[in-house]
Amino acid sequence: MPAEKFAERERVDARDKVLGKTEYAADIAVPGLLFAMLVPARIAKGRATALTTDAAGRIPDVVRVFTPADFPPPAGPDKGAKGPAAAPPPPTLQMDIAYLGQPLALVVARTLEAAIEGAEAVQVVYAPDSFSPLITSPGAVREPAEDVKAGDASRAMAKASTVVDVEYECPAQHHNPIEMLSTTAVWSGGRLTIYEGTQGASVVRSNVARALRLDPTSVDVKSNYIGGGFGQKGAPQRQTAIVAHAAMLLGRPVKLVVPRGQIFHNATFRPRSRHRIKIGADASGKMVAVCYDADHQQSRKGQFPPAYHEAPVQMYGIADYLGTAAHVRIDTQSPGYMRAPHPHPSCFAFEGAVDELAYKLGRDPVAFRLAHNATADPITGHPLSSRFLNECIAEGARRFGWDKRDPRPGSIVLADGTQVGWGVGCGAYPSITSANISRLRVCADGTTRFALSGHEMGQGIRTVITAVLLRELDIDPNQLEILIGDTSVTPQHMTAGSWGTASVAPIAEKAARALKTSMADLLGGRQPEGSLHRQLATVRRPFVEVEVSQLGPGQEAKALQQLTDTGYALAGPAYPEFTSFSYIAHFVEVRVEPRTRRVRVPRVVSVADCGRVISPRTSESQVLGGVVWAIGSALREGSEVDARYGGWLNNDLADYVVPVNADIGDIQVSFIDRPDSMINSIGAKGLGEVAMVGAAAAIANAIYHATGRRVRKMPIRVEDLL
Ligand code: MOS
Repeated sequence: MPAEKFAERERVDARDKVLGKTEYAADIAVPGLLFAMLVPARIAKGRATALTTDAAGRIPDVVRVFTPADFPPPAGPDKGAKGPAAAPPPPTLQMDIAYLGQPLALVVARTLEAAIEGAEAVQVVYAPDSFSPLITSPGAVREPAEDVKAGDASRAMAKASTVVDVEYECPAQHHNPIEMLSTTAVWSGGRLTIYEGTQGASVVRSNVARALRLDPTSVDVKSNYIGGGFGQKGAPQRQTAIVAHAAMLLGRPVKLVVPRGQIFHNATFRPRSRHRIKIGADASGKMVAVCYDADHQQSRKGQFPPAYHEAPVQMYGIADYLGTAAHVRIDTQSPGYMRAPHPHPSCFAFEGAVDELAYKLGRDPVAFRLAHNATADPITGHPLSSRFLNECIAEGARRFGWDKRDPRPGSIVLADGTQVGWGVGCGAYPSITSANISRLRVCADGTTRFALSGHEMGQGIRTVITAVLLRELDIDPNQLEILIGDTSVTPQHMTAGSWGTASVAPIAEKAARALKTSMADLLGGRQPEGSLHRQLATVRRPFVEVEVSQLGPGQEAKALQQLTDTGYALAGPAYPEFTSFSYIAHFVEVRVEPRTRRVRVPRVVSVADCGRVISPRTSESQVLGGVVWAIGSALREGSEVDARYGGWLNNDLADYVVPVNADIGDIQVSFIDRPDSMINSIGAKGLGEVAMVGAAAAIANAIYHATGRRVRKMPIRVEDLL
C-alpha cells in the first residue's frame, strides 16, 4: 500500500555544510600524513622509454618517487563477475601511454609543495606513436554495438507519410564537482583503509584489492560525504590503487588530491556523440516509426556502452523502433557516466527531432506530444509501471502559460529587437533498484544508528532516509546517525543511475517496521507508543536491533551475495513483469539579443514524475541543479581538443565555461507526486538524472521558436545565431 505524501523537511546535513563542518575525504586528518603528486604524460600515445628521478629525489622533503617499476600489473577480472566488477581495475603506473595526461610517476613528500616541485623535476624520455585525437581522425575505429529493436521500423517507415531525417551532435563534456578527486590511504596492522569521495565504496574495495592482489576483506573504504559525484566518482578512479600502493610500500599514510587540470585527463567524461534520427508519422499525424543511429567516442579499450536508445524508446510508445549504435575508438582516456549519461544527449537529439516533426505537420509541439501517450514498453511488451508524462506536460503548459504562445517562429520581438522563444522538451530515465542490506539499532540512551548501503553526494540521501524513519518511528532525530558509504559497516552498493532513493526508502521503511515488531515483542505484545528510547529504558533494555535486506522487484536472493562480493547488484528498468521509467517535461523561455545574439534563459518550468516524492526540498534542488546543468550544456560547455596534441585543451574552470548565477533566471519546479504502485512499497522512482533530461532540447526548441534557426548541436553559442 503506497504511503501518503511526505511533508517538507529541511536537509539534515545542511547546517553542518553551511558551517563548513562536513568532512569530505581529503579533509580527514590523519597523523603522519604524506602528500603526493602525479607526473602526467606529455604525449598522447606511445611509450616512456626512461624516467629519471634523481633530481626529484634531491628536492628537500621529497620522500620517494614511485615509477612503473614499483607496480606489478593488476590481476585480471573476476570470473563470472558483472557490471563494474567485471571490468579490469584501472591500470596503475605503466610505461605504455594511451592518452595525454596519463600518470607515469607519483612523487610522495612531507609537504604538498615538495611533492609538486618533485613531480615537475621528474624527467621522461618519450617514444611517441601516431594517434587519433578525434572521432573524425584517421585511425578512428568504428565498432557497432547491439541493436535495440521493437517491431519492424523499416516497414513502418516505408508507409509513413511525413518523415524528418536529421542529425544532431553533442560535444565531449567534463563533470566538475566542487570536491576534486582525491585518495587518502592508510596502511596499518595489515589493513588498508581508503578515504575517498566515491559513489561505490565496495566497488573501490574490490577493484583496489584486485589491482594490488590483496584480500578484499583486508580493505576498508570510507566515503561518508561526497562533494558532488555526477558519475565521475562512480567508476573506480585512476589514482586510487596508485596511492594505496605507495602508502603500503612506505608504511605511512599518503594523500593525493588530483589537480583540476589532471582530472580532465584522468577521470571519465561525457563522450562526444552523433545522433542520426529519422521519425515517420502516418496520415493522421501519429509517430509510427523511428530509425535512430547513434555513435560516440570511445577509448581503445573502454567499455562505457553507447546505450542511447534507453530513454527515447520509452517516451511515446512508438511500436516500430530500430536503434543502432556504435563506439568510435580513438586515443583518449575512457569516457563514462556523467549525469543522465545517455538520455541527456539522446533526448536533446530526439526531442529536437520530435519538435521538427511537429512543425512539419503543423502541430503544436505540446498537443503533439500529448497525443502520444504510452502504457507499454515497446521492446518487451510489458506494461509501464507508471507514466505520468502527459500529466507533466499538461501541468507544465498550464504553469508556463503555453496557451498564449504564437506558434510562428520569430513572431515575438521586443521593442529593442530581442527575439523571444518558447520551447518544450521532455525526458525519461530508467527507474532502477539496487539490492540493500541494513542494520537498525535504537538505544535506550536516546541514540539511533542505521547502517545501510548508499552514498551522500549532495543529493540528500540522508534526508530521504531520515524522512522515512521518522515517519515510522518515534526516535530522537538529533541523535540519529546514518552510516553509509562505509564498507566497514555494511556492503556499499554503488549509488548512481538515480537508484538511490528507490533503494534506500523501501529498506528504511522495512527496517523501521521490523524494529516496531521487535519492540512489540519486548513489550509483551503491546504496540510501542511514544518515545522508543524511553520505552527501552522502562523495560531495562540497552537497545533493540534488527537486520533487514531488500531486493528490487523480481530480483533473486543471490543478488545479496553479489552485493557483498562486488558492490553491484541491480534490477530494472526492465523488471520481470513491467518496465519502469521516470519522466519530466520542461518549458523554457529564451531571449536572443539582437546584436550580440547572446542567449538568455529568463524562465523555466519543469514538472517531474518520479513517483512518490520522499524529500520535497532536496527533490526540488535536484531538479534545479539538473536544469542549471542543462542550461550549461545547451549554451556553454564543451571539452575542446587540439588535434595536434590530443588530450583536452580547456582543462580548467576558466576555459571550460559553465553558467554562473547571472546566467540563471527563474526556475519553477513541481512534481506530480503520484506513487508508482509496482516499483516498491513507497512508490518512489528515480529523480536525480531525469531532472536534466530534455531540458537542453527545450532550450534549442525555444531558440528555434525565437529565431527560426534550428541548431542541431550543443553547445549553441553566439556564432551559431549570427
Ligand atoms: Mo550517475 S552519471 O549514474 O552517477
